[in-house]
Amino acid sequence: MIKYNEKNRLFKLSTADMTYAIKIAPGNYVAHVYFGKEIPDEDLTWLLRLDENPFTPETNARDKAVYMDTLPFEYPCLGTGDFREHAFSVLDKDGMSTVDLRYKSHIIYNGKPKLKGLPATFADENKAQTLEITCVDEYCGIEVVLIYSVIENYSSVIRSVRIKNNSTNPVNITRAMSMALQLDSDKYDMHTFYGSWARERHLERSKLHHGKQSIDSLRGESSHQHNPFFMLVSHTADEKQGEAYGFSLVYSGNFFAQAEVTQHSKTGVTMGINYVDFNWLLEEGEEFQTPEVVMVYSSSGIGNMSRTYHDLYRNHLIRSKFKNTRRPVLINNWEATYFDFNYEKLLNIARDASELGIEMLVMDDGWFGHRDSDNSSLGDWFVYEKKLSPGLPQLVSEVNKLGLKFGIWFEPEMISPDSELYKKHPEWAIQVKGRPLTLCREQYVLDYSQKEVRDYIYEMLRKILTSANIEYVKWDMNRQLTEAGSCFLRADRQREIWHRYVLGVYEMMERFTTDFPDILLENCSGGGARFDPGMLYYSPQIWCSDDTDAIERLKIQYGTSMCYPPSAIGAHVSDCPNHSCGRITPFETRGHVAMSGTFGYELDTTRISENDRQMIKEQIKQYKKYCHLIINGDQYRLGNVFSDISYDAWLFISKDKTQALLTYVQVLAKANERSKRIKLDGLNPDWYYKNDVNDLVLSGSALMNGGFNFENLWGDFKSKQVYFTRVEK
Ligand code: DGJ
Repeated sequence: MIKYNEKNRLFKLSTADMTYAIKIAPGNYVAHVYFGKEIPDEDLTWLLRLDENPFTPETNARDKAVYMDTLPFEYPCLGTGDFREHAFSVLDKDGMSTVDLRYKSHIIYNGKPKLKGLPATFADENKAQTLEITCVDEYCGIEVVLIYSVIENYSSVIRSVRIKNNSTNPVNITRAMSMALQLDSDKYDMHTFYGSWARERHLERSKLHHGKQSIDSLRGESSHQHNPFFMLVSHTADEKQGEAYGFSLVYSGNFFAQAEVTQHSKTGVTMGINYVDFNWLLEEGEEFQTPEVVMVYSSSGIGNMSRTYHDLYRNHLIRSKFKNTRRPVLINNWEATYFDFNYEKLLNIARDASELGIEMLVMDDGWFGHRDSDNSSLGDWFVYEKKLSPGLPQLVSEVNKLGLKFGIWFEPEMISPDSELYKKHPEWAIQVKGRPLTLCREQYVLDYSQKEVRDYIYEMLRKILTSANIEYVKWDMNRQLTEAGSCFLRADRQREIWHRYVLGVYEMMERFTTDFPDILLENCSGGGARFDPGMLYYSPQIWCSDDTDAIERLKIQYGTSMCYPPSAIGAHVSDCPNHSCGRITPFETRGHVAMSGTFGYELDTTRISENDRQMIKEQIKQYKKYCHLIINGDQYRLGNVFSDISYDAWLFISKDKTQALLTYVQVLAKANERSKRIKLDGLNPDWYYKNDVNDLVLSGSALMNGGFNFENLWGDFKSKQVYFTRVEK
């Protein structure tokens, strides 16, 4: 999969139908040659258009700056004439920021390395190969290893960078992106995923223009506002055709991602930890590892790119033993009660839920300290006796007796000013000593850069988790970081706090998943502010958004599905009028939309109509029948609510293509339009499929080229599901 051609000094990475090529260019610079559809030829050196610039350092150094400013560097540095966006910069002992990285050596080996302290994709040794190119700057003694891995059968290159200080002097890293590359064209549209609380991952498509277009987070988490994922696609690309490049950062903190169209109309891409307010001191012999970027290439549209990510993340990123299995259908009490619950109320919900076939009760926020609203007790992870008397073990055991599992909510990274913990340890909050702390949701963030803080919180969590039969944890994180500083770090290490915080979170999650592999973990951050691949390494599912309205969710889940598998998308049926936007939608539609994610309920079943209650039983039956398609199948998006809000449709197909589930949502009805034809995708054109609506048997070809008719459509927000199975004809 990875070859080095000594004569041409060319590395060729090939897998599935993709080729990625790198050349050691004149001057020993590591240059990008090609990233795209598979090319069988051995020699690709001609793709590096050195003739565009005659002033190569080896042949004519009189204008080396021009060479530096046009060579498509794999890892561009600051200071020696490349004026495009750089990926790497330092501050050396003399206060200098210039870096000049030259190729020194390389190794190619089987397997994919783990990244110390960081989540990362993984693969069996015989299924992956890795190339490490070592570059050095002889002046400041910095060594940079560019790491590239490919995994068999995936059109993907996974990149990260390891930096080592080989000098005897300390060096400050001021920027260390995970990757950079130069595409040989600017004819792309950039897709980014913006949002806000309760409006995550809304797709925005815009044509690239000369100059820089970027997304980022400086909030300490990947954020509601932008997701650490973007795509570059050819102007005419759609779900089924055209070129698409995806860039996904496996990281949960501050990030930066940019596309820059240069003076010569090429497109430079950079992605990694945000360099703003970042500084990492590297003492003699120390190393720094960047998180990795998973790049995916598709020559056949955006849909194919998404399916590659879905498979890659399901098979090579998510570790949880639950990832390929049906998760218990849960009921969460958040939208049912908010903070207003007690032992009896929870038991009542569980009692009723058990009659309807629900399989797990999740007790959300408000069970600890003296928490009756969001203004206290974070950090006091002991049971609020007044609410839960006679106690948590008793509650769990009663719930279990009803045949339900029990799950619990934590927000382990936070501390309320009104808490016993804050009284004892105000210095454990992230802060700039001497400055007032900024409140957000009446809480501060714990200094997870410190092991002592993590140990203390972990011990409290452990006590609760071992006190009763708890089988699920929702790990929430409800505010961003401000006054980013630590009472414990040295002045010259204070700017490391952002990254150290994230490393601390990862270390806690690693401990948790190691000690409690049988507990199903769901990540969450004020809805979906930390819906990123870093979190998926620890939890097989993430709460997608606090907006549970089925219609708003169409956009949120559509955007999320661009990179993340439906099996990871936390989705629940909630009450109406919806708590986020007041919309009233049919119970059936809410079920169909939630079923396209992890599926569960978030309402008080005792307060809804008998009709809806009965529908819960039906929905659970359907979900059990179809969930293997949703969890392990292929997803095809057949509508696009961002360009046409009148409807949405999507399809899940089993890997063997013998079964498919089609969901259609009529968002806004139209007069004189009582039926809608939807063309399917991904079926075997030569096989025959029978549907469960009218038993009609049609070929895959007919369903994909002709379409399936949804009839008798009437009213807004209605939805329908059709199940297809292969039959012999
Ligand atoms: C934000 C989450 O997204 C909600 O589901 C809920 O758990 C609240 N936090 C609780 O405070």
